[in-house]
Amino acid sequence: TEPLRIALAGLGTVGAGVIRLLDANAELIARRAGRPIEVVAVSARDRAKDRGVDLIPFDWVDDTSALATHERADVVVELIGGSDGPALTLARRTLGAGKSFVTANKAMLAHHGLELAEAAEGASVALKFEAAVAGGIPVIKGLREGAAANAIERVYGILNGTCNFILSKMESEGRDFAEVLAEAQALGFAEADPSFDIDGVDAAHKLSILASIAFGTQPAFGDVAVTGIRHILAADIAEAAALGYRVRLVGVAEAGPAGLFQRVHPHLVPVDHPLATTTGSLNAVVADGNFVGRLFFQGRGAGDGPTASAVVADLIDIARGEFGPPYAMPAASLTALPPAPAGER
Ligand code: HSE
Repeated sequence: TEPLRIALAGLGTVGAGVIRLLDANAELIARRAGRPIEVVAVSARDRAKDRGVDLIPFDWVDDTSALATHERADVVVELIGGSDGPALTLARRTLGAGKSFVTANKAMLAHHGLELAEAAEGASVALKFEAAVAGGIPVIKGLREGAAANAIERVYGILNGTCNFILSKMESEGRDFAEVLAEAQALGFAEADPSFDIDGVDAAHKLSILASIAFGTQPAFGDVAVTGIRHILAADIAEAAALGYRVRLVGVAEAGPAGLFQRVHPHLVPVDHPLATTTGSLNAVVADGNFVGRLFFQGRGAGDGPTASAVVADLIDIARGEFGPPYAMPAASLTALPPAPAGER
């Protein structure tokens, strides 16, 4: 059988994790995919860095189009990050060249998801992004496929592992914000620019993607009202605990008669609530469906292993010819509520 041949762009924490996972579980992956998955090209900004994986020689020409059109690749996996720049160029060129595209890039999808979904649809190829939301938790598949028969009334959850790690440690160890942030960075959870994590932007990217799937709208990142956790003190957390609550950064999307409500804010969560027992770098997503009732997903939302797990699951689907529902992100069918007043954003 012909292998599924992939070209991989970006060898940071997640890219190296994907290579390790494809190697460690090669046999079971080939069995489940019906054929082997073979890396035929990799590219990285810094080729000299030792990543603990074998780099396959690739003629890097400072232009991602070489990967997009690499003649031996069936699929391009983008793990570069960033809403625009090389990641977006690579996405457009790959789909334009009629190849499937797998990405963990929530920022790019939050800004350009509809365009890319339409390009994939037009070319009859796959656009897969399980790793973009909640790391290793199969929440995209869960909502798009598992809960496909339901009208989703509300979707909410903890969508940033770095913030959850920081809030959990501040609570359990009474430590300072900055010190715990440095630890989250060292563990490979944080974004290249950690202000995306702590100011709630990363959670808002993911919420806008979840909302688009749950409610059939196009991702509308600009309509998400966002407050991060930068201003929270260990003393705030102790006060909340005295009242029986924990502090969690929660993203909420709800479709109401007036439109779509999307917010990311620190919330007080009762200590026995599943969101409160979501600790460390775990993420959690709750979705209320009109027939299934409440769905609760929990798992590791950041880091190389969980994120690689989601990327490779997408590759296994593609190897089997399963591209997922035809419209990844349908055009808007709901009016977004106007964003919150400037002072609240
Ligand atoms: N920086 C992100 C987080 C990585 O902490 O959740 C996973 O998207």
